[in-house]
Amino acid sequence: MVSDSVELTLDGRKVEVAAGLTILQACRSEGIEIPTLCYLETLDPINACRLCVVELQGARVLVPSCSRRVEAGMVVQTESERVRHSRRLILELLAGSVDLSLAAPELKAAIDRYGARPERFGSAPPRNAPIVDNNLYVRDYGRCVLCYRCVDACGDQAQNTFAISVAGRAFGATIATEYTAPLPETACVYCGNCVGVCPTGALMAKSEHDMRAEGRWDESRQTKTDTICPYCGVGCTLTLHVQDNTIVKATSPLDDSVTHGNLCIKGRFGWEFVQIRKPARE
Ligand code: SF4
Ligand code: SF4
Ligand code: FES
Repeated sequence: MVSDSVELTLDGRKVEVAAGLTILQACRSEGIEIPTLCYLETLDPINACRLCVVELQGARVLVPSCSRRVEAGMVVQTESERVRHSRRLILELLAGSVDLSLAAPELKAAIDRYGARPERFGSAPPRNAPIVDNNLYVRDYGRCVLCYRCVDACGDQAQNTFAISVAGRAFGATIATEYTAPLPETACVYCGNCVGVCPTGALMAKSEHDMRAEGRWDESRQTKTDTICPYCGVGCTLTLHVQDNTIVKATSPLDDSVTHGNLCIKGRFGWEFVQIRKPARE
């Protein structure tokens, strides 16, 4: 008979968790916080960033907790000096090479938590201007940490469009369209699912990009309201971000059983008609 639970030791404490969980899921179920970057619960783990590494007794190298599954008898340290050193270095290299000023709050919190000092590696390299080649979203690769989330969301894990991928290798690797063509000349269907998963603001709705450029974007004055998309019978959950009584962005919750965070072009970007408040012409 296969047991449906596994006993292991997390940070010196014996715990019993459901078989099949990853170490990350086991830790979260036990209230142990581990930082992640490339991992997203709606995508398969890709092991790109290694920020989630933990020390596993008997293993030669640190293991990525987001993909390694629990096994009976494992002894895991989630905050050993070796782990902290590794996370600090990863964060320093990332923050020293790209602009993380608009990154998710959890990433900024991790930089503080591990005392990362990106300035140790000198000043940030020059960055290219954001690519604004359509009216719906902007690509600013000077903020990209190569987490691959957008590639997976555009590819076989959500959209199956394959409009974006990784081009180049090693230090020359970037997210790009085929032959770096402008987005309107690619297979992109403007679902914005890549935008929805980007943790750094490298991909951003143009509405948000423009408001930030004009100094008008202010999340402290925004509310979020869940509603149902009116466009078709699928009934996707939309989260409308509203500032000054105006919709400024639409997203969908990752834990929504219909969308899993994904939308189509209409749900993601087709809300501007709601706020045309001029009287119709006679
Ligand atoms: S908007 Fe949709 S189709 Fe276009 S690149 Fe992003 S995920 Fe792919
Ligand atoms: S554009 Fe965003 S989602 Fe895509 S790899 Fe870069 S940081 Fe990750
Ligand atoms: S979060 Fe686990 S490798 Fe990136």
